[in-house]
Order: sequence, then structure tokens, then C-alpha cells
Amino acid sequence: MSRYKKLLEPGYIGKVKTRNRIIKTGAAMNYWHKDDLKMNPKVKAFYEAFAKGGVGLLVVESPIVDYPLGGRWPQRYRLDDDRFIDGLKELVEVIHKHDCPTFLLLWHDGPWQNPLFPDVPPLYEGPPVGSYPIKLDTPLDFHRDLPRKLTISEIEEIIDKFAQAALRAKKAGFDGVEINAASSHLFHNFLSPFWNRREDDYGGSTENRARILINTIKEIKNRAGKDFAVSVIMNAIELGRAFGVQDDKCLTFEEAKKIALLLEEAGADALHVRSHWLGYHVGGFLPDYFFYPEPPVKDFPSLYYAKLHGKAANILLAAQLKKYLKIPIILVGKMDPDLGEKALREGKADFIAMNRRLLADPELPRKLAEGREDEIAPCTACGTCLDQSKGMERRCRINAAMGKEDPTIETSRDRKKVVIIGAGPAGMEAARISALRGHEVTLIEKEPKIGGLLDLAFLVKGPTPEDVLSIVKYYKTQLKRLKVNVITNKKADIELIKKLSPDVLIIAAGGKIVTPQIKGIDSKIVLTSDILHKQAKKYLKIFGPRLLYLLTKIWIPIGKRVVIIGGNLQGCEIAEFLVKRGRQVTIVEEGEKIGQGVVDFRLALLLEWFNKKGVSIYNNAKVLEITNKGVIIEKNGDRLLLEADTVIPLAPMMPNEELVEIFKNFAKEIYVIGDCKEPSLIVDAIASAWETARKI
Ligand SMILES: Cc1cc2nc3c(=O)[nH]c(=O)nc-3n(C[C@H](O)[C@H](O)[C@H](O)COP(=O)(O)O)c2cc1C
Ligand code: SF4
Repeated sequence: MSRYKKLLEPGYIGKVKTRNRIIKTGAAMNYWHKDDLKMNPKVKAFYEAFAKGGVGLLVVESPIVDYPLGGRWPQRYRLDDDRFIDGLKELVEVIHKHDCPTFLLLWHDGPWQNPLFPDVPPLYEGPPVGSYPIKLDTPLDFHRDLPRKLTISEIEEIIDKFAQAALRAKKAGFDGVEINAASSHLFHNFLSPFWNRREDDYGGSTENRARILINTIKEIKNRAGKDFAVSVIMNAIELGRAFGVQDDKCLTFEEAKKIALLLEEAGADALHVRSHWLGYHVGGFLPDYFFYPEPPVKDFPSLYYAKLHGKAANILLAAQLKKYLKIPIILVGKMDPDLGEKALREGKADFIAMNRRLLADPELPRKLAEGREDEIAPCTACGTCLDQSKGMERRCRINAAMGKEDPTIETSRDRKKVVIIGAGPAGMEAARISALRGHEVTLIEKEPKIGGLLDLAFLVKGPTPEDVLSIVKYYKTQLKRLKVNVITNKKADIELIKKLSPDVLIIAAGGKIVTPQIKGIDSKIVLTSDILHKQAKKYLKIFGPRLLYLLTKIWIPIGKRVVIIGGNLQGCEIAEFLVKRGRQVTIVEEGEKIGQGVVDFRLALLLEWFNKKGVSIYNNAKVLEITNKGVIIEKNGDRLLLEADTVIPLAPMMPNEELVEIFKNFAKEIYVIGDCKEPSLIVDAIASAWETARKI
């Protein structure tokens, strides 16, 4: 019997039969555009992967129902006119071809905006709309513009537009719709007494605040028929305490329960349960990020499950609601197959919704069904998929095929001998893809184990929210399964490469560590990257990453006051590591801002935390000299001494193309990938390996 018997059991949402209990949530990937009339091939490829991968129900992300007020940026499909039906029809055909049922997510941004994406023009000028003019002044939320209060006739128009959109979804072939009344979008903005202070038929009592949503459900059922499924996502609790607002001024669980019963009565076929933290937008829908770098509250309400740092955060809320409702309860929020199976067995939910785990591996359900769970590509919870600092289209750190028009890996016509030097993320991915294509692959690593700098990254990042060690585990299994010849503890030299006589040589040996040239760099209080790497590697060999991580909480050879020179990703992560170990940290950055390379929403959280923890940040500052007392900088024309017991000067890694010269005559084809070519992030290393290896 499968370990995932319950998870793999078919189920029903209304009259719609799902293939199993795993639901892929609707999540905006921004691969299409508001003016698309034909379905973008990237979107088809993206959704087909889940349909093929065996998910029980696939929810397609949300088109704009009320254009332009219901959206905020242009990378969204539209559904405010019949002319958009045909495009969606093409998409539904692709999904249904694999016998996968599909719902369309409908939403209205309402007062929610996009201040995190300053380069993206908004869809409309002027204020957004909401139930009432309330805003939140915090960079961690999306309510910094005061909304305009919707009139009653505008509310009625919105209800009508949702019903029209649902009918269009039905015409396009969708099996149902899901209404997003969660996070802090328009419907939640009506449901919550914190936001909704109206005194008309759409404000005041619980029934009045729920009226817009109830009437929307009823109107959809009226027009699309009672068998057309309607699922509703809602916050089963809204908590104000992290933002200094009393929880009982927000949407309490008791009231959410009352609303859920009203939605059921109005005809909703399922309730998809989330929670929301006022002022912490991302921490609401990605609960693990409420705990990053540390949770802003110490006491959690009894119905919010905080023991696993965001994993299964909504489980108690779902379980409570399940006691009162007859319709199925969908549980979401950093779920995984084991937690999902357990929740189903214990009767705490009827369906398990996942997003990031399926982005990282759309074949997760099929692999579970085939007993191949150890082959599932892990989601490392890095947040890269949500990052929009490098463009609007989503990328996955692990699944480089995501967002590609043609994600297929084809078997090569010629079987080549491929030798890869360096088993970091780029080398491991190049080996995996080359082997999948049928080549004979050898991977050479000079260290005793594969993974490159991932152990070191784990040491600094720790086990949550990111889980970088899962990357190594995944590749180990994959490389073994694909029969890649892995040679460890061996430096690639001419003799070895000659012996292996490759057709293709891929150099993925990592970047070069650089020590910045600063006066006084030899001072005894300086710890260069080179020394740090050497020391860490020595202890990693003895203790391994997990134990060493714990030991660093007891002792590290670093003084009380630390100045970090260089505020990019590496500098920020080291600062976080040191602050968590009681150090007093100062960051000096030459450029205008710190945080280059940090995922945008994580940077916002980190900066707030640095501020709380008293981290001093000097940007636009020039380092003049390091002395035995600290670092002398020039800032705004002033010369300052930043006193320190330890100084950590960081500089970006440099490309390392020397090996190309050494080996260029020993293979017909030679490629340089990853940090070796252009030092960057794990996502870039894996992407460059994927691109290169699929063409060999
Ligand atoms: C990249 C990304 C985009 C998302 N976009 C949406 C969206 O447009 N609408 C929505 O309701 N939820 C959206 N979400 C939330 C997800 O649907 C889901 O609730 C969340 O990722 C938690 O599930 P997980 O822990 O399994 O990832 C998004 C999440 C991510 C990571
Ligand atoms: S980008 Fe990171 S968080 Fe997002 S799905 Fe991929 S591995 Fe998970």
C-alpha cells in the first residue's frame, strides 16, 4: 500500500472529480500579457507540465476580471471581454488532454498595489479602490496609497463582472472557478472589520461585510449553473498583533467561521483556507516567510500552528472549520506530501494545496504514485519564484525548465562522452541533463563530496526557511539513478582528462575568491573570504554542516563588534548569521543600496529586521583603511572610524576561465558554465547548466 494512500485518492469538489487530493494553487507567473488573445506557448507549456505530472486539480492563475481597476500591472491575462475566451480555451484543451480537471482563479486586487516593482507602470492612474479609505504605511505590505471607497453601484458592477468572467471560464471549458477572497485583496478588504468601516449594506455586521462575496457566489451559480464548481479562498484568521493592532480588531476565527458557513449556504463547493498577518503581506500567503529572519511576534494564537516555522501553519484553522462545514476543506501553506497525508488521515482537511513544491517539480504527484518520492526535486523555499527584481517573469531556482516554451529534454542522437569538472549546482545539473539525454557522463570533484559551496551556504543560511542541503541530496539520488560516474577527492588534471578522452568538456569549477585591495588588509583583525572559506571547510569536514551550524551558536572565532565591507547577498547573509549570534554588526557598502542579489521581498524583511536589531548600514561609503581599531571610511565628505574587533572584507567572486586554456586541446567541444563563467546565484548556475547541457 502506498505511503500516500489518502493523498492519492480521488475526491470531489461539487460535481468535479479530482484525480487525487493534491491541488496546484493558482499563482501568477506573469508569462502572459493583458493584450494576449492567443494563448502564449510558454503558458501552455507551464500548465501542461502539471497536468502531465498527475496533479489532482489544476488551478490556473487569475486573469483580470475588472479591467483595469481589478489588476495593477500588465503581466496578467484579461477576462473582461468575450474576445479573451478563445485563448483560455486553447489552454484548457492542453490541460484536459491529460484528463486533469482545472479551475480558473478569479480575483480583484482592490486596494493592493505593487510598490515593490517600481519599474513596472501601473495599469491605471489615480488611487486604487477598496471598501473604505484605509492604508498601511509599511514597505512590507501593499497598501501605501489611500484607496477610494467603492460606491454601491460599483460594488454591484464588480459582482456582475465576476459572474460574467465565470461564465466565460465555463465557455472556455474550465470545470470551475476559485475566488480569491484571501490575502488583502478586495473581497478580504470587505470581509475584515479592520479594513471595512462602511455603514451601508456592505459594511457593519458580518452578513453585510460578506454580502459582496455571497452575492458573487450566488450570481456565478445563477449564470453558470449550480454544477459549475465554485471554490473560495479565504483567510480563516487575520492577525494584527505583529503590526501593533489588536487581533480582535481584525477578522477573528469566530467571525471567519460564521462567514464560511454563509459562503457554504450561498453555494460554495469548497473552502481553501489561508491566514493573514496584517502588515506582512508575504508572510500571510507564504507562512514560512513570517518567520524570516525571525518572527515579528513571540506569542502566536492557539489556532495558528507555529511549531514548524510556517510549515502547515493553517492546519488547526482548517481542522476547526472542517468540524462545522460540510463542503471540502482545502489546506494550503508550506505543505509537503508527508504533512499532507497525515492531515488527511487525521481528518483535518479534505484536499492539500501546494504551489512551490509543484513549481520545483510538477511531476511530484506522479512520482508519489509510482513510489519514486526520493526522486522529487525539492523546493528550497528560496523565494526566487516571487522575486521581481530581475524581471516580472517567474523563475525557479531548481526547475530551470519552468517558464520555457520548450521544456523538453530530448535524447541525443549521438551518445557522447561528457566530462564535467566541478560538482557544485551547475556541474551537478549539467551532469543530470547530459545523462538524461543519454550521454556517458563523468563528474569530477576535487573535494570529498559533491555540492560545491552548498555546505558553506547552509552554514550561513541555516536550515530555515531555505533548505539548501536538499539540493545536494536530490542530485546525489539523481546522479546515482542516471549512472553518472562521480569521481570525488580528485583534482582534474591533464592526465585524468586525457585518460577520460571526452567529446565534451564542461567546466563548472566555480568562481575565484578575491580579496579586496584595501590599505591595512593584513591587519590582525581582518578575516578575508579566503580565510573564512578555509576555516569553514576544515570544520565542515570534521563536523558536517548540520552539527557545525549548531556549534556556531556556541562559539565562532569572531569578535563582538564586526564590520562587514560589502553589502551584497553574501554580506547581508553573513550579517544575519552574526546578529543571530549576538554580534554587533556594521555594513559598509560602496553603492547606493545594500542587498544586491537578495530576493526583493526577503530584502524588505531583512532590512526591517536589521533596523530592529541595530545593524548600522553605511552606504555610498568609501573604505579608506583598516587599522587594528577598525575601519576608516569616508561618507558625505566626513572621515569616520567604525570601531571593530573583526573586519570581514568581501568582494564579488571573479570568473575562472583559466581551466579553458589548460584543457582546450583535450575535447572537441568545451563549455564554461556557472560561477566559473559568471559568478552569480544558484538559480543562474543551474539555469546555465540546463541551457548548455540540453544542446550537447
Ligand atoms: C510566485 C508566486 C505567485 C503567487 N501568485 C498568487 C496569485 O496570483 N494568487 C493567489 O491567490 N496566490 C498566489 N500565490 C500564493 C500561492 O497560490 C500559495 O498559496 C502559496 O504559494 C502557498 O503555498 P506553498 O507553500 O505550497 O507554496 C503565489 C505564490 C507564489 C510563490
Ligand atoms: S524558486 Fe525557490 S521557492 Fe520558488 S519553487 Fe523554486 S525552489 Fe521553491
